[in-house]
Amino acid sequence: METIRDMEPPPHIIGIKHFVDYKTVDEILKSKNFRQGSHQESQPFFGDSLLTIDHGEHFERRRLEAPLFRKEALEYYEREELLPLISSSLEECEQNRGADGLVRADLCLLVRNMLARISAVTTGIDGVDTPERTDAFRTYVEQLGTGATVEWSTEDHGEVIERILAIRQGFVEEFYGPSVERRCELIDQFRAGQISEDDLPRDLLTLMYLHWNEDWDDELPLREATLYTVASSQTTTHAVPHMMMHLHEWFEVHPEDYEKRFDREFLKRAGHEAIRLHLPSPALLRIALEDVTLSNGIEIAEGERVACLFTPANRDTSVFGDDAKSFDPYREVPDVKPWGFAFGGGEHTCIGRTLVTGLSARTDGDEGTDGTLVNIALALFGAGIELDPEEMPAFTELSYHDAYGRFPVILRDL
Ligand code: HEM
Repeated sequence: METIRDMEPPPHIIGIKHFVDYKTVDEILKSKNFRQGSHQESQPFFGDSLLTIDHGEHFERRRLEAPLFRKEALEYYEREELLPLISSSLEECEQNRGADGLVRADLCLLVRNMLARISAVTTGIDGVDTPERTDAFRTYVEQLGTGATVEWSTEDHGEVIERILAIRQGFVEEFYGPSVERRCELIDQFRAGQISEDDLPRDLLTLMYLHWNEDWDDELPLREATLYTVASSQTTTHAVPHMMMHLHEWFEVHPEDYEKRFDREFLKRAGHEAIRLHLPSPALLRIALEDVTLSNGIEIAEGERVACLFTPANRDTSVFGDDAKSFDPYREVPDVKPWGFAFGGGEHTCIGRTLVTGLSARTDGDEGTDGTLVNIALALFGAGIELDPEEMPAFTELSYHDAYGRFPVILRDL
């Protein structure tokens, strides 16, 4: 199958100016003359969240949330949360052992479960611990993701918003409400001197309630939590199957590299290539704050919405070389980030990037982090992952996303 595709631009950007080369996309994303242009319709889900505010207000919010991604916090998540969660998700696959003695799984579902739990921990949602609760939480996050990307929907947009708002009520009652209540009680105990700050959970909701801003409306933490759960899970869940497919193909052509499946540096590079080639959405949209003339002479009027097509920009041969449209874990791109615009650019650059790619400071097992991609890939190779010869992976047909919908695997060493 063709694993690196040319994706058609989605219908809702047809008719608006779009940019496909690295230099122009970089210029627009970094420019102070533009503001966020995505999520115009999905305000009930993402309104006033970090992703949709700009400039001064954005800077303040980003500063508030930055501690979640400090070195100590990342080390804590990786060692105390991520690694045990990956192991327990794999152990649960044991239930699928067939009559032939082999454990079969759908990699998409497996990774979605792993990521649901990790995103619950960083956001501050309790009780995503058993397979049933993980399933329930994951389903809510997927539905909230549909609401948050309603502008891409092929259904009636008003109906989608109404339906997902009703579903969100269930999420609030089952997960969000009790989690907030527990955090507020802990914060009260901290303020009363009964517990120390170190005893508070390290997550988004605790941070927001601890540093409450009177300008916020009561539902803002819910929308911010929605952003975090959706942004952290639906991106990485798409990236891992791409990464594993590319590695499978790479090892077929380069069998001498197969032993590197446990080499963290090699896997890190493979992860960068996979996310460079497969972006989490079709386009990043921006709105001009004033009349702008780009350095290539193109004029954009005040209020005009433009689309940065970051998939072609990430395959720009002038930046990534003549073979930019292929997967090469040995690629050297000294002047730009190896993942290109996979995490966006400018002020809205992904805040969770280091969770995914790890801290580059890592020198040995005790310092720094490797990130979710490397850790999940290592665990999957440890479990003896192989494609299931009975059914090949297939891309999703449900959206314009460049993502697998099914990815059957055998976990031979479980
Ligand atoms: C492979 C994984 C990921 C990819 C490819 C990815 C990609 C992106 C991109 C492209 C943006 C910019 C959107 C824009 O400019 O309109 C973004 C923003 C964001 N991402 Fe990620 N992301 C990933 C993982 C995560 C994780 C793990 C988290 C959470 C902990 C996260 C949280 C966010 C948030 C909160 C923003 C908004 C940042 C801001 O507006 O300042 N993402 N991400």
